[in-house]
Amino acid sequence: MEAKQKEIVAFADEKNIVLDKRAIELLENSNFKKIIEEWRLENPNAFVLEAEAIKTKIQRPKTEVLEAKTVVEGNVFRAAAKGMQKKVRFLSEYDVTGQSNSEGTAKNFLALFQKKFDLLSEMLKKRHNLQPRPISKIKIIPKNNQVDIIGMVFKKWITKNGHIAFQIEDKEGSCIMLIMKTDLNLIKAAELILPDNVIGVKGVKFGDEMIIAKEILLPDLPLKKTKTIPEEISIASTSDIHMGSKLFLEKKFYDFLEWINGRIDSEKEKAKVSKIKYLVISGDNVDGLGIYPSQFNDLNIKDIGKQYEEVWKLIKEIPEYIEIFIIPGQHDAVRWADPKPAIPKEFTKDLEGYSNIHFLGSPTWLEIEGFKTLIYHGDSLHDLIDNASTLESSKPSEAMVELLKKRDLMPSYGMSHPYVPEKKDFMVIKEEPDLVYIGDMHHNNYAEYRGTKVINSGTWQAQTSYQIKLGHTPTPGIVPIVELNTGKIIETKFIKEGQGE
Ligand SMILES: [Fe+2]
Repeated sequence: MEAKQKEIVAFADEKNIVLDKRAIELLENSNFKKIIEEWRLENPNAFVLEAEAIKTKIQRPKTEVLEAKTVVEGNVFRAAAKGMQKKVRFLSEYDVTGQSNSEGTAKNFLALFQKKFDLLSEMLKKRHNLQPRPISKIKIIPKNNQVDIIGMVFKKWITKNGHIAFQIEDKEGSCIMLIMKTDLNLIKAAELILPDNVIGVKGVKFGDEMIIAKEILLPDLPLKKTKTIPEEISIASTSDIHMGSKLFLEKKFYDFLEWINGRIDSEKEKAKVSKIKYLVISGDNVDGLGIYPSQFNDLNIKDIGKQYEEVWKLIKEIPEYIEIFIIPGQHDAVRWADPKPAIPKEFTKDLEGYSNIHFLGSPTWLEIEGFKTLIYHGDSLHDLIDNASTLESSKPSEAMVELLKKRDLMPSYGMSHPYVPEKKDFMVIKEEPDLVYIGDMHHNNYAEYRGTKVINSGTWQAQTSYQIKLGHTPTPGIVPIVELNTGKIIETKFIKEGQGE
């Protein structure tokens, strides 16, 4: 008898319940504790729990869709990932959970910007062929000579002659960097440079406090090969469930739960599911309360505690051999500003005892099977997309790649998204990730940049009236899977693209 089966029998024994072989097999693929406990409460005097009774519990009678698909006797799904050992290491030093100690003072802000400048300028010096001089020393260089600097953008504007001007600062000085309107490539690159970005500049001295840029360099990621491992293991991801919203696609989410439990007919899909050992959920688990002025009318669950109760009921249906990483988004019960700590325990107590479910902050870092993984809800993408005409919300992976080039999840301060000036920096991308998971944009989209995979995991919320106004079409009900052995990203679609439901 396998260890899990022994555990099931022992648990049933404690409750004076006898199980037959078939019942044990069915319980192996379910949340056996919950099923046994429920059955005991409903049948206080019975002592044989049969397979038939378990099947009715596995089939949630709530949806008709499920009944046609539920597991058939003699066809029990056994996932390969179930027998595999998890390999996870949390890099908790990069997660603000339990480490938030900002006083919100001007001193905190100053320290945050200085830290950011130090971290990113070190990366620029290491990564690029720059011979940077302090900005205050430009005046000792003869006019028209080459000069390299590293600085933080303070201001950006268009001059009356149509050139782009930047005021750049380092710790001791400040200068104007001009990008000539005739330098079309550089003008395009400059479009993506925002105030507070730390950049390297190769340029020519024009005046004592002015240089003409010839090249702009970002801290960027080094070029590396896409990482793969021999083991056939996969990471599935999803995001933005928005439980409590009238637009939460509940029936489709049940289809996802049936699928991830292997209760499906397609052998091809079973083979995919069989390898899933990890699931990343990138925030907006619930729709929340008071997030925008007229939200109350858009909710079918108007209590945030109840929203969490309902979403965790669904998460509990995911097999226990899958390690689940859950971060918060702007709609969750945490602060709006980044970095966000994990969802507080008072809202997650229903999942206490589920050792496979991990609540983490946004951003957070971990190693999954040796893959350095960054998970972030994606809040800062809005300001980046809104301020660069070459980026769009239907292609969030392109904006995410820009964050990787800047090595910064707080590219610009003082726009629409707030940040807390923590004493320690949590927003600079200090490591070189193999996998980057984001959500927020409600749009599945993937990219590979210098050996790093960027995955936007979509949503389970249909198009909102706000998105209709913006002309943004979400892609609900699509689950991406990264195959760690092939390096491929594959999808399973529970809703055809363009359909709300
Ligand atoms: Fe969302």
